[in-house]
Amino acid sequence: MESTKEMRKFLKSDRWEEWRHSDYDQKRKVPAPPVQKPAPVVAARIDLPAAESLSLGQIPLVEAMRRRRSHRSFTDAPLSLEELTFLLWATQGLNGDRPNLRVVPSGGARHPFETYLFVNRVSGLEPGLYRYLAQEHQLCLLRSDPDMDAQVADACNHDFAGNCAVTFLWSAIPYRTEWRYSFLSAKLIALDAGHVCQNLYLACEAIGAGTCALDAYDQHKLDAFLGLDGEDEFAIYAAPVGKV
Ligand SMILES: Cc1cc2nc3c(=O)[nH]c(=O)nc-3n(C[C@H](O)[C@H](O)[C@H](O)COP(=O)(O)O)c2cc1C
Repeated sequence: MESTKEMRKFLKSDRWEEWRHSDYDQKRKVPAPPVQKPAPVVAARIDLPAAESLSLGQIPLVEAMRRRRSHRSFTDAPLSLEELTFLLWATQGLNGDRPNLRVVPSGGARHPFETYLFVNRVSGLEPGLYRYLAQEHQLCLLRSDPDMDAQVADACNHDFAGNCAVTFLWSAIPYRTEWRYSFLSAKLIALDAGHVCQNLYLACEAIGAGTCALDAYDQHKLDAFLGLDGEDEFAIYAAPVGKV
């Protein structure tokens, strides 16, 4: 087991010179991995309202920053599909002419995340586990079991992850970053995740909703809940959302 001090190595950027002289897959001309995981062929797709058509969240940025707080209890009010779309756009939406130009920054524009949603109370969506397809700006429905609220609360180690309106569950596909940054990738991926969740916090404040970043989830249970292998793709961060 590494000591706490040894783990600080992970936070440092003292190996860039070594990386420059090293061989990594991009340098070896290995084709770049896709920026998005393909949707299962059988999954139902839900078109989301165009991000440009939304008129939500128009409060001054300074006000959203002033208000930002972690929220762990929510009203029973559902989120509208427009509100959920706004949150998805703020966290992983495309805002350029390429799929790796997004509302959030990412080291080397590698964007190593997928966004899964446990939908509990969103108008127009049946409860279930969905994934956001940022390129198509669609949701795909992965599954819908009757006791998913209890499963997600247990996997997240937080009851409010099961009884909020929607829980954002982000996975990392580390190879997207490792293809270029090899042994430097872990720090870059962790930094990237922070940007995503901070945008969720601010976007929530702008629509009268709230969220709370969660790292203290159960890795094995959440990977199993999401159907991930835990190696090439695994849960990295979670954030229950509801109206406050
Ligand atoms: C990386 C990170 C991980 C966190 N993990 C948890 C968590 O597992 N459970 C929880 O209740 N809050 C979690 N939080 C929320 C913090 O406890 C919260 O941000 C902190 O108490 C400050 O409160 P504020 O966000 O309202 O300013 C996390 C926050 C961050 C940034």
